Amino acid sequence: VRLPRIGVFDSGVGGLTVLKAMAEQLPAHYIYFGDTARLPYGTKSADTVARYAIGATRFLEAQNIDLLVIACNTATALALPAIKAAAHVPVVGVVEPGAAAAAHVSKNRAAIVIATDATVSSHAYRDALQQHGLEAVEKACPLFVPLVEEGWIDHPVTEQVAKIYLGEATAVAPDGADVLVLACTHYPLIYPLLRRILPDRVQIVDSAESTARVVKKMISEDPVFSTRSGEPEVAAGQQGTTLDGGLKAAHRTFRFYVTDSVDKFKRLATRFLGRQVDKVEHVDLGG
Ligand code: DGL
Repeated sequence: VRLPRIGVFDSGVGGLTVLKAMAEQLPAHYIYFGDTARLPYGTKSADTVARYAIGATRFLEAQNIDLLVIACNTATALALPAIKAAAHVPVVGVVEPGAAAAAHVSKNRAAIVIATDATVSSHAYRDALQQHGLEAVEKACPLFVPLVEEGWIDHPVTEQVAKIYLGEATAVAPDGADVLVLACTHYPLIYPLLRRILPDRVQIVDSAESTARVVKKMISEDPVFSTRSGEPEVAAGQQGTTLDGGLKAAHRTFRFYVTDSVDKFKRLATRFLGRQVDKVEHVDLGG
């Protein structure tokens, strides 16, 4: 048995929320690709996002990954079938795990989904929730991504913006909507703020967390992989860096590849992961 090599793809830094959730649960070698030169994806067309995502898939497959996690909600919503068709490894997106988790907690079978413009326009979450018997309204909250990247995660402006968005969403939500799905990589950072604004009867489902649980289950059911963090094994000569803080050092390594500035990624990554990262490399995928 050996540790799995998990590729994590996102449009930029946001996918670090998914990486963090996975790393807290699952010992693995994580190879993260953030397409920072071409973000945001949330405003782009399905064809463009699919093309970028397939380029990223090729890059990560060249790093010998066993499994590919599409951490980006927009890429999952717009391009998961295209990515799966192009990939040679199993692919996990964030939409279905988020929808399944929402279905698990909703008593009234009614949800509100907040996401980027592109994710909302695709109706991927509405359709996935419908499969689970839930009615949903989807609300685009395009200001949240820049506010979170600005670090305004507990800021009066963000709170005001959130009140407006959630007020508008609630006004058109199905009766008794009792779950809010965070369907964008950046939104877990404003969880406390959203929690304050929402009535107690509305539960919050974070698709990053839900995806991490699905990945953990997949890996633990595969006898090829070791999932025991107590084992002394770490691949010989394995390059990478470690996150600590509850993560057992030798059993999780991290490598980061980005298409834009390494320094900018490092700065933002600190905010998303709550600690510094090194081993960040620049790659140019062209196009
Ligand atoms: N990662 C994107 C998502 O989860 C948000 C950032 C972007 O628009 O690229 O939808």
